[in-house]
Amino acid sequence: MSLPVPSRRPRRLRTTPAMRRLVSETRVHPAQLVLPVFVHEEIDAPREIPSMPGVQQHTLESLRGVIEDAVQAGIGGVMLFAIPASRDAVGSEACEPNGILNRAIDTARNAAVQRLVVMADLCLDEFTDHGHCGILDPHGEVDNDATLEVYGRMAVAQAEAGADVLGLSGMMDGQVAAVRAALDGAGFQRTSVLAYAAKYASAAYGPFRDAVESGLQGDRRTYQLDPANGREGAFEAALDEAEGADMLMVKPALPYLDVLADVASASAVPVAAYHVSGEYSQIEAAAQRGWIDRRAAHVEAVTSIVRAGGDIVLTYAALDLAEWIRAD
Ligand code: PBG
Repeated sequence: MSLPVPSRRPRRLRTTPAMRRLVSETRVHPAQLVLPVFVHEEIDAPREIPSMPGVQQHTLESLRGVIEDAVQAGIGGVMLFAIPASRDAVGSEACEPNGILNRAIDTARNAAVQRLVVMADLCLDEFTDHGHCGILDPHGEVDNDATLEVYGRMAVAQAEAGADVLGLSGMMDGQVAAVRAALDGAGFQRTSVLAYAAKYASAAYGPFRDAVESGLQGDRRTYQLDPANGREGAFEAALDEAEGADMLMVKPALPYLDVLADVASASAVPVAAYHVSGEYSQIEAAAQRGWIDRRAAHVEAVTSIVRAGGDIVLTYAALDLAEWIRAD
């Protein structure tokens, strides 16, 4: 008995590297990559983060070098996080012009001279002693509306320091509208808001919490999204867009590509996705053991994120990716 001869042969378009390159649907460009950078107030030299191989905590001085590397790599921007020397219940350092994050913004802005976009994390968790993203009420619950007032002041401090984009990662209700109003009220109409619209309460933030030396007590499940809920992520994104977000983000990335695809198809504004610390470190750890091809895994991750609808990708591998993309 003879088998039927296939009438359609999709393998024809996979025969050679040249053919595969020609028909590739998704192309990642360095300009759409954003590198997250950690700046530490209390160290004299860059320091490795053990749970994030290849990622360091920086000084203000070494931050300049990172900015230069990022410019040379042709990536789109950096997202700044800071580890302050002192923390208190209300995250006071976040709003101080002299606070470490605001100084890092100023340093990055001066080093970048508009050759890339300087973004800053707008959230209180690095600045509070309890590690929550907002301030607490007398019962120890995160007080949404009291936190909005602090976010507004933090936003103005970051805009004054020279941030182009503020990354609102706290997941408070109404944070986009509150920050937009504070910025506009202070004359910062030009400063953009990137809303971490659909940020899930994820196990994949573990290494990040080492990186920022988080003292988090408890978890973030009263404000970050439940991983079980996809439509709620799309709803959060719609609310943030309506409140005036210039860009939206879905985070983490790979476990939430369904949410990313929904948000990207429903939104009029650019959509970012954050390939977070745990996603990064899973690749690095397996690669160190020889269990996975590091380069192929990072390229596949970023390609899949863009294929799902991500316009912008935050990734700790941004500098290597830019080089690999150029070489391919
Ligand atoms: C909050 C914030 C977090 C991350 C980015 N912004 C941590 C959290 O919500 O616990 C995580 C990013 C990553 O894991 O790479 N400021």
